[in-house]
Amino acid sequence: MARCIALVPAAGHGSRFGSATPKQYLDINGQPLLAHTLAVLAANPDIDQVAVVISPGDEWFDSFDWPQPKLTVLRVGGASRAESVANGLAALAPAADDWVLVHDAARCCLSPQALARLIAEIGDDAVGGILAQPVADTVKQGDAAARISATVPRDGLWLAQTPQMFRAGLLACALADAANPAITDEASAIELLGHAPRLVVGEAQNFKVTWPGDLALAAAILAARN
Ligand code: C5P
Repeated sequence: MARCIALVPAAGHGSRFGSATPKQYLDINGQPLLAHTLAVLAANPDIDQVAVVISPGDEWFDSFDWPQPKLTVLRVGGASRAESVANGLAALAPAADDWVLVHDAARCCLSPQALARLIAEIGDDAVGGILAQPVADTVKQGDAAARISATVPRDGLWLAQTPQMFRAGLLACALADAANPAITDEASAIELLGHAPRLVVGEAQNFKVTWPGDLALAAAILAARN
């Protein structure tokens, strides 16, 4: 029977965050950000294994306790997110028809409901799919001087989130050229093979902690949930 593996790239340095400690290790409500991310994945009964990809030179991971029994740690992070995912996949060597759910370490507010919805709606889809949010705001294109050059119709526009759920064999094939700058998420790699991944409605709270102000918002969301 096909297994379901969550693969969490956590080998970034969070340069936009501007902190000496990578953002995945910053404290949120008494735990590192990454612990919240791993906990929601591990709690899903359909997920058999949670693999986290950290940098080979990571100096922070071992200073925390990681109590999840489903957890596998892979010290194979690469130069880009796509390379970290490709390296993690190669190290895990799953069966070709196993499902892999790639989820950003920095999306620590993913709700159990959105995760379950993704797994249920993708089901046995031939391609796989992702959580995403239809764009709600008016979209502007800006020029180099930060002046509006165009208003972009938002019909049919979605913001990609994670998890992104694909069969391991198809994903490994799609990420064979992980250094391709056109690959900004797993879905874009699958699209380059000519496939059309499904869009499953995500949620605003599943945002990626990117800027310093995001930490307080994530803390408030997680505190309200608990
Ligand atoms: O930098 P950004 O927030 O877009 O990264 C998204 C996710 O990819 C984060 O969880 C980050 O740790 C991870 N990443 C990685 N290896 C890299 C760069 C980013 O695992 N070289």
